[in-house]
Amino acid sequence: MSHKSKIIVALDFEDKVQLQQLISQLDPSQCRLKVGITLFTSMGPEWVKSLHEQGFEIFLDLKFHDIPQQVHGACFSASQLGVWMINVHALGGLAMLKAAKAAVDRAADQFKKRPLLIGVTLLTSSGPEELKQLGIQGTVEETVLRLASLCFEAGLDGVVCSAQEAAMLKAKFGKEFLCVTPGIRLPEDDKQDQQRVTTPLQAISAGSDYLVIGRSITHAAKPLGVLQHINESIEVV
Ligand code: C5P
Repeated sequence: MSHKSKIIVALDFEDKVQLQQLISQLDPSQCRLKVGITLFTSMGPEWVKSLHEQGFEIFLDLKFHDIPQQVHGACFSASQLGVWMINVHALGGLAMLKAAKAAVDRAADQFKKRPLLIGVTLLTSSGPEELKQLGIQGTVEETVLRLASLCFEAGLDGVVCSAQEAAMLKAKFGKEFLCVTPGIRLPEDDKQDQQRVTTPLQAISAGSDYLVIGRSITHAAKPLGVLQHINESIEVV
């Protein structure tokens, strides 16, 4: 199954012992890993490089959102860590998204290698109430579609969205446009801070390319068992 698993395990630990315990059990053939702001802030870029050197494909989930020049610089720096995928917030706007794309293209020219670049549409922890608070007009689906259109126009490789929107986005932008979907919960799990959740099977059936799964695996009594079970369950689809 080398590098074919659609599961990206979100390593969001604060506790370094728990972190090392989990990583030592995982094999790059079973999953990719996601490093987000919690760990990147404490462990830094050298640690990300070392994970890559252990053979893992890394999604560096730092969700850049700043002025175009800053986002260009951040994406160019991230491109040099050997990571497989990086992301920016689509809410940063078209000029910012184009600056991010230019950075990965520059990395490709210079290093003959670049990470996939995707845009976060609307966090899976957000719903209609958050849109109202922020003064964003339209439904969740309309907002996700609008933000995904900006990512598509800027030439990004795809988006982060909820699997609830994956079928709509695939129909609109084609199957090559990646849908990376967090907010995955097993039927017996609690939603916690997430709102737009689906099960792994629902996500795959909706056309999701990669499933970002954090606590359902990382906080399970037997993380490896849960990972293997999900890998097997989605392989048959
Ligand atoms: O523990 P859980 O499965 O909810 O973790 C989801 C992960 O996906 C977190 O690391 C979070 O940062 C990330 N994520 C998300 N919603 C997005 C983008 C990323 O939940 N839109």
